[in-house]
Amino acid sequence: MSTAVYIESQGCQMNDYDVGRMVDVLASQAHCRRVERPEDADLLLLNTCSVREKAQEKVFSQLGRWRRLKEARSGVLIGVGGCVASQEGDEILRRAPFVDLVFGPQTLHRLPEMVARRRGGGGPQVDVSFPEIEKFDHLPMPRAEGPSAYVSVMEGCSKYCSFCVVPYTRGEEISRPVDDVLSEVRALAEQGVREVNLLGQNVNAYAGPLSDGDSADLGLLIEAVAGVPGIDRIRFTTSHPAEFGSGLVEAFREVPQLADFLHLPVQSGSDLILKLMKRGHDVATYEALIEEIRAARPSVVLATDLIVGFPGESEAEFEETMEMIDRVGFDGGAFSFIYSPRPGTPAADLADPVPAATKSAWLQRLQARILEQQRAAGEALVGTRQWVLIDGPSRRDPRELSGRTSGNRTVNFAGDPSWVGRFAEVEIAAAMAHSLRGRVVAVEGGVEPSAAGVGG
Ligand code: SAM
Ligand code: F3S
Repeated sequence: MSTAVYIESQGCQMNDYDVGRMVDVLASQAHCRRVERPEDADLLLLNTCSVREKAQEKVFSQLGRWRRLKEARSGVLIGVGGCVASQEGDEILRRAPFVDLVFGPQTLHRLPEMVARRRGGGGPQVDVSFPEIEKFDHLPMPRAEGPSAYVSVMEGCSKYCSFCVVPYTRGEEISRPVDDVLSEVRALAEQGVREVNLLGQNVNAYAGPLSDGDSADLGLLIEAVAGVPGIDRIRFTTSHPAEFGSGLVEAFREVPQLADFLHLPVQSGSDLILKLMKRGHDVATYEALIEEIRAARPSVVLATDLIVGFPGESEAEFEETMEMIDRVGFDGGAFSFIYSPRPGTPAADLADPVPAATKSAWLQRLQARILEQQRAAGEALVGTRQWVLIDGPSRRDPRELSGRTSGNRTVNFAGDPSWVGRFAEVEIAAAMAHSLRGRVVAVEGGVEPSAAGVGG
């Protein structure tokens, strides 16, 4: 009989990717199938995030709810994975002794063995070690879930920004060999995937071994991925300004499959704060880099990450950030956060006199400004034609289809469900705060919108 597994995940795209791998490894080695409701599961897995305090707080309240499910039915196992598991290890069992499995981002491939040992009468299983690349060698080829897929090309981060837990929870940077990445991309393309998003916490530090003993940077990897038949759009996330090599800038000039989108976190517009954050670059270097990338690809849409209220930030530094936002223009938006001290990171020891109310007010001002920029960029697209990869039914109205432009904007439009997985030319009719509305002009493969009873 197969085991029913329910997985809940917090946090970043790496965690989303890891969930896919958990499902693959449990399906192929432990006869598991995924279920949609925790009440139906024999194995409950929580993939956690510790990047900010809020996410971490949610872990134990969620586990408390699952404890009741475990008590109600015999044979239910609870597992905790991800970055909180990696950081806390055995401590999870002390606070939640009903937990059966604790595994880290680098040991998720050992889940089937851990489940078997626990079911076979072993005690609670804890493995949060960092065997790093071993993970990839032990995972089955991923199964595609739609036309767009993540491909993890490296693990970990060695930048050690002073506020960030990632290097401690996911370990140092390690790149997958180019051939491994390419076989995964080929396998996905054979299943109908058209777009891949190359993932890493600091993905532009990619240095993947080549079969001849040399190594390839991210620019070269992108070129190689562009050569895989069927792959027509490539994205990468997330990059770091200090390691953005000229090869990657060239990829924006030379590789048409590379999407018009760049997520390049800057965190702050103040040199003082960037120094305290140990980011390894100043504001002028960031802006010069953006200029270079825009020269190589004028249509590139730029998104970023920003932190407000870092220890040492005063009104003056915050204003510098607002001025930088005005100068650079983040038409692709920003993930913005109030600084959250993380235990074990160097910044957690810095004095932080700024009142919480001031930080909230700064965040609101900053978000309003970014939203304005994003909105103006959306409005500028009205009347243009965009090449959109059709992902599936629209989230807002399942009778409609939804897709993404090269610049990573969601577009909703009327269409035939058989078009999912194809590219279409869409004329943009209206811009909303977070999405666009459009009308299909042509669908790849020669389907006329009017033939399917759509269009107009
Ligand atoms: N490379 C990573 C990625 O792919 O997103 C960046 C690391 S982190 C998971 C994502 C973002 O969270 C960072 O860029 C930063 O803006 C924010 N962040 C990280 N640590 C933080 C902290 N202690 N407080 C507030 N925001 C934080
Ligand atoms: Fe974190 Fe800085 Fe790496 S934000 S993931 S330590 S680049």
